[in-house]
Amino acid sequence: MTVANMVEARCCFKLLYAIVVVLLLHMSSPCIGCSERDRQALLALKQGLVGDDGDRLLSWGREAQNKDCCQWDGVYCNNQIGHVVKLDVGDQSLQGKISPKLVHLQHLEYLNLSFNNFGWSKIPDFIGSLSNLIYLDLSDANFGGQIPNQLGNLTHLQYLDLSSDEDSVIRPENSIHAKNLNWLWRSQEFSQGGSTLLAKINGKAIPPPDLN
Ligand SMILES: *[C@@H]1O[C@H](CO)[C@@H](O)[C@H](O)[C@H]1NC(C)=O
Ligand SMILES: *[C@@H]1O[C@H](CO)[C@@H](O)[C@H](O)[C@H]1NC(C)=O
Repeated sequence: MTVANMVEARCCFKLLYAIVVVLLLHMSSPCIGCSERDRQALLALKQGLVGDDGDRLLSWGREAQNKDCCQWDGVYCNNQIGHVVKLDVGDQSLQGKISPKLVHLQHLEYLNLSFNNFGWSKIPDFIGSLSNLIYLDLSDANFGGQIPNQLGNLTHLQYLDLSSDEDSVIRPENSIHAKNLNWLWRSQEFSQGGSTLLAKINGKAIPPPDLN
């Protein structure tokens, strides 16, 4: 082998080495996918629900090649922490029972269950345990009965929509109600005069309580 050939070979080797390093770095990129606990919570939610016209939940699966729940329709993750932060299953004609495992999505900031049909069942109390929620849209989802006080535990909430289409309320006892909603502002920054919460029932904003 001539000296020139040896230099060329070494050069080639260096280039190959660089390519391998770049490939390895790419494979271990910070996209860590969804946590197993979040994935199980979503699968439990899917299991309790039927009637998915919108097909959004069809992409939620147990198959190995479909393991990363951050890739599922309507599911959005914070890829730095590998947790679901946004769940949008609005307008999917969903019916059935909302699994209590939903509260395992402890990093959830946005939950949209609007335009589904929960058969005038009560809003689950456990939604009040999703302590990082900022947006909660339960409008036109056929929830009924008393609004759980637990929603007052959602201290980060800035948007709450509990509106229902008045035509769809068959019997008055079905409609969503509360004796008063003062608890909703109980632990809000509102008490310090800085609330940004927009709460709506039947399209009307709920005024914060008169503190005087
Ligand atoms: C929730 O979903 C419905 C239906 O897709 C949409 O119209 C609505 O704007 C969403 N709500 C929020 C707060 O994003
Ligand atoms: C949530 O609210 C309910 C009713 O207002 C209360 O009894 C409960 O202790 C609260 N839970 C937490 C974790 O703050």
